[in-house]
Amino acid sequence: MSTRTPLAYSPKILELFKNPKNLGRMNDASVVSQAGSPACGDVITIYLKIDGDKIIDSSFESYGCAANIAAASILTEMIKGKTLKEAWDLTWEDVANELGGLPPIKYHCSILAVGGLKRAIRKYFEEIKREKPEWLPKDLSKEERQALEEEELIERMYKKYGVVT
Ligand code: FES
Repeated sequence: MSTRTPLAYSPKILELFKNPKNLGRMNDASVVSQAGSPACGDVITIYLKIDGDKIIDSSFESYGCAANIAAASILTEMIKGKTLKEAWDLTWEDVANELGGLPPIKYHCSILAVGGLKRAIRKYFEEIKREKPEWLPKDLSKEERQALEEEELIERMYKKYGVVT
């Protein structure tokens, strides 16, 4: 029997891990974005369906852990019906709070989910609408920056050890 102590997940995380909402590919998404590194396995894909300035539907796919699945699940619920600006203003801490808290070692799971969302919103304005609202900052949000740093770190490690991805 394992002697490892299980992480202290909230009941909400356990519930959403077992029964995630909005899980799966969305074929008619307005924009799709990813965060995380396929090399290490923690990757999240966020799908948004947008009408005007509102998110009318959202779904996700995750190759992350239980906390990431729960974070993405609750995030997709939180943003439905919100304007793009309201969704942009959400932070990884908001998602963690909504889950009833996360163990510190799992903060990155919420950061990846919100990083994926913010990348999707940025991509929507930069590549699809080709017109940026004044509220969208030029600099990366903390979640986008952290996701990028993790991706670059994994890539450096794989290069260092000669792993081809
Ligand atoms: Fe990497 Fe949860 S997504 S540990």
